[in-house]
Amino acid sequence: MCWRIYRVLLTKSGIHAIVPDRRRLDMKLASHALPLPGMAAASLNYSMPVIEPIDSLEEIRNNNQVESRLRSIDWSFSKDDTDYLSHDIHPYPTKFIPQIPANLITALSLPGEIVWDPFGGSGTTAFEALLLGRQAISTDANPLATLISQAKCSTLSPEDLGHLQKLSSRLRALASNRQDAEKILKEAWQQISHLVPEIPNIEKWFHIRTIQELAYLKSQISSLPNETCKVFASVCLSGIIVKVSFQDGETRYASKPRDVDVGETLLSFSNYLSDALKKHEPLQLLLQYRRPIITTLDIREPFRKGRLGPVYSNSVDLVITSPPYANATDNHLYHRFRLFWLGYRPTEFANMEIGSHLRHQRLKRGFDLYAEEMSLALRNIYEALQPGRFAVLIVGDSLFDGKIIHTSEELANISEQIGFEIVTDIERPIHQSKRSFIVGARRARQENILVLRKPPRKIRVVLYPASYKMWDYEVVLRKREIVGLLKTAPEDEGDGRYSLELDPFEVDRIRRLTFTHKAKFNPGSLILTWQAILENGNTLKAKKNRKEPKYVTHGIHPYKGKFYPQLAKSLFNLSGVPTNSWVLDPFCGSGTVLLEAQLNGLHAAGIDMHPLAVLIARAKTSICQENPYEVDFVLKDFLDEIEVDRSSPQHAEWFPPKCHEEIRSWFPPPVVQKLGWLLMEIKKVPILAVQEALLVCLSSIIRNVSQQDPKDLRIRRRNPPITDAPVLELFRQKVLELRARMRQFAESVTAAPYVMKPARVIEGDSRTEEAYAKIAPMNGFDLVVTSPPYATALPYIDTDRLNLLVILGMSSSERSSLERKLTGSREIRARERRQLEEEIPSLTIETVGSQLAIATIQEIWHRNVNAMVKVGFRRRNMGALLLRYFRDMFNSFRAMDKYLARDAQVFIVIGDNKTVAGNTIMRIPTTDILVEQGEAVGWALKERIPITVTKENLRHSKHSITKNTVLWFYKDSSRQAYPHHRG
Ligand SMILES: C[S@@+](CC[C@H](N)C(=O)[O-])C[C@H]1O[C@@H](n2cnc3c(N)ncnc32)[C@H](O)[C@@H]1O
Repeated sequence: MCWRIYRVLLTKSGIHAIVPDRRRLDMKLASHALPLPGMAAASLNYSMPVIEPIDSLEEIRNNNQVESRLRSIDWSFSKDDTDYLSHDIHPYPTKFIPQIPANLITALSLPGEIVWDPFGGSGTTAFEALLLGRQAISTDANPLATLISQAKCSTLSPEDLGHLQKLSSRLRALASNRQDAEKILKEAWQQISHLVPEIPNIEKWFHIRTIQELAYLKSQISSLPNETCKVFASVCLSGIIVKVSFQDGETRYASKPRDVDVGETLLSFSNYLSDALKKHEPLQLLLQYRRPIITTLDIREPFRKGRLGPVYSNSVDLVITSPPYANATDNHLYHRFRLFWLGYRPTEFANMEIGSHLRHQRLKRGFDLYAEEMSLALRNIYEALQPGRFAVLIVGDSLFDGKIIHTSEELANISEQIGFEIVTDIERPIHQSKRSFIVGARRARQENILVLRKPPRKIRVVLYPASYKMWDYEVVLRKREIVGLLKTAPEDEGDGRYSLELDPFEVDRIRRLTFTHKAKFNPGSLILTWQAILENGNTLKAKKNRKEPKYVTHGIHPYKGKFYPQLAKSLFNLSGVPTNSWVLDPFCGSGTVLLEAQLNGLHAAGIDMHPLAVLIARAKTSICQENPYEVDFVLKDFLDEIEVDRSSPQHAEWFPPKCHEEIRSWFPPPVVQKLGWLLMEIKKVPILAVQEALLVCLSSIIRNVSQQDPKDLRIRRRNPPITDAPVLELFRQKVLELRARMRQFAESVTAAPYVMKPARVIEGDSRTEEAYAKIAPMNGFDLVVTSPPYATALPYIDTDRLNLLVILGMSSSERSSLERKLTGSREIRARERRQLEEEIPSLTIETVGSQLAIATIQEIWHRNVNAMVKVGFRRRNMGALLLRYFRDMFNSFRAMDKYLARDAQVFIVIGDNKTVAGNTIMRIPTTDILVEQGEAVGWALKERIPITVTKENLRHSKHSITKNTVLWFYKDSSRQAYPHHRG
């Protein structure tokens, strides 16, 4: 069997391409699991936008520039496959070709911005906007258009697919058994007869059997478990209406009665549904759970209190739309029976339908009616747009009483009166074969692309803080990132609100703020920052009183570090580095900085010596780069696979023999068996990043199922020991949580103001240049953000001993040799201690790069030596340990400096700690020492930003850390670096 597995790639411009993934394919063939059902049928000829994408709003400041950019491509697309989205599950006669919105979106908006189509039709604009990572809003007066667009833009989860496939097969089975079908329909009739719509002369248009079966289908659809399934199935129901009726073809309103067999309509629906599911499948790989906003809306309605349906005043970044042609299509007639069967009144829509030929006739009005109604639409479009942004109309000429009217000229005039600037009017030839079948439009050989702009003006913005209580230093950071990013000092409006006036081509930066969650433009509109959406989802309702540190994959595994995501992100903002810059974390731990960088459009690279940290960091970041649709399928499949405990004694042998004994001593036999089985199942998962994330989930429950007392941070055995543990339940819970987080992330990803880039993570030693050489970009890193280990840090390896043992198969001797090597370790062998101590009396600046370090090490050592008889070995080691720590830190600085770009910035989160030296408590001035060491490698200290210690950190620390500081350096290329430092 040939399985075609696709991979969705992110390119520079945020455009997606689908290519068969050889690596994945091989893995999949090698494994038993084939989790993407029906992928064999998937094929998609997605053509990428050809126009140059913009990188910043600055590029669309000037109208002439915009015009020449737009005129740089051939809009006829005569050689392109313009039907690729006609994998459509429902006909919609007035669609435009997807290349038009795709190229306009690319040229006139940034990722994460809002694109609105007020004549949304079948949702072509919304679909393309989602693919290009924009937030999509589609509205249309036709309620069927809403349903079709919703179905087209929805990703069916594995469960949804299951429900719909089941429905299709159940109906097929019923249709094939005449007797059963008759019986069931008869029995159901009482309950379902009310579902038959009031179609005048219904018998003229539908056979009585068809009427019964359609009502039955409606009842079956209404009992589907969720809206996504109901909408999808309703669109399929709509799709068969004309075919099962007596109507003589899609556009001929003549009744042609015929005989209809029992089950015919059920079968027709079943076939249509299963076909639609197949056609939709490749689109889902592209859609990846991204969600649009689609509602029914008559565009002639005015804005009320700054809102029109889902659209706010001054909030839309781009409008792309093809309004109806004047005196042409009659959508309400074309969809008449469908609308009836879906529970709508076609006359209601008929009264709203702009351009409808019948309506022009009925009201005895000419082009003036169209002009009047389009003027209302254009007013609304103007109101919705942000100042300085564009509305693009795709329009065709129309015919009244044999006279051709040039619509785009007329609309340009109206638009000018409303206040729009006319940017350009491009004629687009329509290929012979692509002409509309609609009478009024058939003659058209060309369309016009009319580009309008709402004139730019300064925008007054009020910024609102996050709803949780901030630490004092966060309040300070908040204001500083506003100044740093928006380059304007804000006015304090009280209650944490700041107001400021912005150039319209700078407002997009608001969405990057960390501690600001909303912005209101004067008047009316409101946007959420990307951070607010990451933390709470894309909703205005969610109000949390606590800071959410676990969004996306941040909370996948506990790890002790001084960073939390919001702090890392605010430092990126403070630095002012542009997106696309490279961030390095040489002590990356579980990857908080890396994931934050990735979520915020930066390239990230991390190094850590702790193999568990590397696994977590890699899993956290790489799963976010995978196609969420595939990830969801694979996770669901995996959860099914491990639903029932199928572990057996042989699974206890799964671990490397060197670990057997230790594992047996720390876990009861049933637990060992279950862990072995789960590890084996994880290895079969066909996506590497998902495998790693699952390992991390398993790692996060290890302590709870072991003999180690989970309440005690030290390694203590439980008393009494356990004989078994709910491994499967705890693990499944974690996997479900991961799946839910990934789904939430996927649904909100269109609001990301950046294209995300994969992070590089390696297991390595940040004191060595080789480590940096493996991950550094050509021009060096632009930014370092890191929290290095503290002097005499936690015993990182020992704390995670059971995880390393079970998950990574590391034996006790491998672990302890690693522990000794970590910077900040408290473990030291006698020989190394003696060597270091010999160095202490004659320490030089070349070794540690800081006079203060030398003085501190010498003093502590002297005090302890003098008090030697009374101190224990830990304290006796202190001098040597500190020398090793500061030497290691200095070496890390020196090595990393070689890989920093010319004016790179370095943020280091650090704190002092205390130790008992001699008979008194002595502070180790780590912060000041690192400042000297930074300066010794040629960095200039820009600032020390004080940050208070979180309670969580205090809990872990024996010698309580009194205060933390962010040291902010920049690489001063004019300075002479080590060894000629200032001393
Ligand atoms: C040319 S079609 C748009 C097709 C769309 N671009 C697509 O690719 O499917 C014009 C749309 O205008 C809608 N329409 C007509 N009158 C309207 C009104 N008063 N308010 C909103 N939409 C209206 C029609 O229902 C139709 O879907």
